[in-house]
Amino acid sequence: MRSALCSSILASALLPGVSALPLAHHDGDSCYVVVTTHYVTVDPVPTHTSSDETPYPLPTVIHSTSVPPDSETPYPIPTPDPDDTPYPLPTVTHSTETSIPPYPTDHPTDPTDVPTDESTSEPVPEPTPTPTPEPATCRPAWDNTGKAPSTGPLRAALIFVDFPDSPADQFGQSTEDLYAPLKSQPADLYSQMSYGKLEFEIVPLLDQFYRMPNDSVSYGFADDDGMTGEEHGRYINDALAAVGDSFSFQGIDVLFIASPNGTEEINRSASYSNAVTAPDGSEFTAGNVITYGNDLYPEGEWQTVNHETGHAMGLPDLYPYSPGGNALFVGGFDMMGLVWGQSPDLFAWHKWRLNWIEDGDVNCVAENGVTTHRLSPIEVAGGTKAIAIPVNATGYVMAEVRSKQGANSEACDEGTGVLLYTTDSALGSGDGPVRVIDTKPETSGCGSEDNGALLNDAPLTDVGGEPFDTELGVKIRIVGQEGDDYIVEVEREV
Ligand SMILES: *[C@@H]1O[C@H](CO)[C@@H](O)[C@H](O)[C@H]1NC(C)=O
Ligand SMILES: *[C@@H]1O[C@H](CO)[C@@H](O)[C@H](O)[C@H]1NC(C)=O
Ligand SMILES: *[C@@H]1O[C@H](CO)[C@@H](O)[C@H](O)[C@H]1NC(C)=O
Ligand SMILES: *[C@@H]1O[C@H](CO)[C@@H](O)[C@H](O)[C@H]1NC(C)=O
Repeated sequence: MRSALCSSILASALLPGVSALPLAHHDGDSCYVVVTTHYVTVDPVPTHTSSDETPYPLPTVIHSTSVPPDSETPYPIPTPDPDDTPYPLPTVTHSTETSIPPYPTDHPTDPTDVPTDESTSEPVPEPTPTPTPEPATCRPAWDNTGKAPSTGPLRAALIFVDFPDSPADQFGQSTEDLYAPLKSQPADLYSQMSYGKLEFEIVPLLDQFYRMPNDSVSYGFADDDGMTGEEHGRYINDALAAVGDSFSFQGIDVLFIASPNGTEEINRSASYSNAVTAPDGSEFTAGNVITYGNDLYPEGEWQTVNHETGHAMGLPDLYPYSPGGNALFVGGFDMMGLVWGQSPDLFAWHKWRLNWIEDGDVNCVAENGVTTHRLSPIEVAGGTKAIAIPVNATGYVMAEVRSKQGANSEACDEGTGVLLYTTDSALGSGDGPVRVIDTKPETSGCGSEDNGALLNDAPLTDVGGEPFDTELGVKIRIVGQEGDDYIVEVEREV
């Protein structure tokens, strides 16, 4: 099946309240689509809203809509539409992260780190010291309230269910068979992407498929008019009731529920937008219960686990919830856009939010002028991982280096270099909170259209070339390259 057909399947999957996950994935004759559900709300509208991205800068009263105290120009904080909010905060939440370290006053740019001579094709100018930013202007105060932990252990229980109309023995499957691809691959990928900081562990209940009380069709996953929150909630409660209190969910952060491979009616994966209480009394906050459908099982699709768990840790969807194609905003960069993109490692912006990258790994350019920076690829630990250039109260121009290492080993050549993008912390899932800047808009890129071709060659690669003008008051020029590192000059005139 060719991409055109996959595109049409994708388009047909965009039902009200449901948006297709990035991408039609080709596997022989099939075209697989993952879908994340965001409900047209069935529960009372929350008294406050939670977008995936917390409006910057976060007031001390978390859900206040007051104007950011530090901004010279008061940008009104948009009130997120609850319909667009996949995970309304439950009324009771517990914080997993409490404090955000202040931005260091001694700036991480170390002039002695910058090469001055050999192995650089272009002469590298002396680095200029980066101005010390005001603490509040650099890092958004991301709100991790109720989110799954992103460093240290993150434990996900995995329950397999089956149905009267789709019993697992009909397919001759065992829970071990279905668990096999999930056993180490998602954990290894997280370990790699987080530089060893996230210890992801799936705790599977392998003793049986827990039998659901109703037929698979009754839960509405494949309904033409979309699954409702009520249906999804019933599915989760039925699964938990089937397990009963025989299992203690103490110490479990996230709950996964998976159906047999081949249960056609459960044809999408979705995370639940309300809090859930297990029979043993354990609480799962909104977004931390994820149900997996048939889309989990084709060869290589296990990365769906990393995408969905990314939401549990607070990351937004980077593909549009409105038409335009799943690759519209970020092409094949970051698996919160396209799960199977050519360069699927998370943006430095996301790694920063998850505390895989710390403030000291980011150069902040909060003052106008020309500064020089040395960037090392995001796929490997060490060095400076990003340049963050605030351009307004919520917006940033970001720069990072993509290479073909680690999680991006399958990247196309054109997908490497200095990747520029904007972020807007006022925008959440589906609204384009991150947008890649295509420095080569005239070229057709690399990879298939579904896999983000046009944007896949977005990175800047021209060493010693003209400054690239982002037209946001920021110009970027590559002045040198040493090994995997790029020496980058930033001209800020905001
Ligand atoms: C689910 O099964 C129970 C028990 O057979 C039945 O009473 C109920 O109506 C069913 N619900 C749906 C939505 O099919
Ligand atoms: C699930 O199946 C229904 C019914 O065949 C179909 O309309 C829908 O597009 C499918 N969803 C996905 C994501 O494949
Ligand atoms: C699920 O079923 C498909 C089709 O039979 C098969 O190709 C795939 O390997 C199965 N996946 C798992 C994890 O068993
Ligand atoms: C701030 O910058 C971001 C990123 O370029 C942009 O999306 C947003 O519209 C800007 N906001 C305002 C109020 O200009």
